[in-house]
Amino acid sequence: MIIAPSILSCDFNILGSQIRETAAAGAGMLHIDVMDGIFVPSISFGTPVVRSIRRESDMFFDCHLMITDPIRFIDKFAKCGVNSITFHLEACDDAAAVIEKIHAAGLKAGISIKPGTPVEALEPFVQSVEMVLLMTVEPGFGGQKFMDGGLARIAAVRQMIDRLHPECLLQIDGGVNRDNIGICVRTGTDVIVMGSAVFNGNITDNIKELTRLAAGEE
Ligand code: DX5
Ligand code: ZN
Repeated sequence: MIIAPSILSCDFNILGSQIRETAAAGAGMLHIDVMDGIFVPSISFGTPVVRSIRRESDMFFDCHLMITDPIRFIDKFAKCGVNSITFHLEACDDAAAVIEKIHAAGLKAGISIKPGTPVEALEPFVQSVEMVLLMTVEPGFGGQKFMDGGLARIAAVRQMIDRLHPECLLQIDGGVNRDNIGICVRTGTDVIVMGSAVFNGNITDNIKELTRLAAGEE
């Protein structure tokens, strides 16, 4: 199980030091939410921010592109030194071409769906990606509530991955906290993205406690 802090919830005045603190506390991946104000209602940040945090950190950077027509930006984010790019199936006409472009840039590819998209829509792509990102809130904002029916969707995607591509990682994003991280892991999640649960309060204490709870400890 990997904890992937989402920097959307961090204090941008001290972004670099907060990223270092998450790594020191055991977070295995950094989740970088890029929003364009069109695919989702908010705008977050773009390549200049990613380029500058790359200089300060050797964590695995996963860039979650919540942007329309993501193929336009694959090379630009690849040049910033991210390790993987996760895009939305709903945001493009040709998901296979996006995956191909991410791989051609030398990165791992992730495909994501919003809560309203049937999980079966992932099936044609599971064999060609390294990661599936199941949104457990409507993308756009941190601090929302884990969606009803989220666990059933995790279980369904887990089964699909086990059947079609067992090495592929199952990642979830949105509304995960102390109360539900254990059940999300037991239902089959490999990578847990968390914003508010990591950055509200003491980052080190939060990550240590979330790691314990994820392992089923009290
Ligand atoms: C939402 C983003 C998430 C968000 C998660 O659109 O994709 O990564 O930061 O935040 P929490 O963990 O607070 O729900
Ligand atoms: Zn995200």
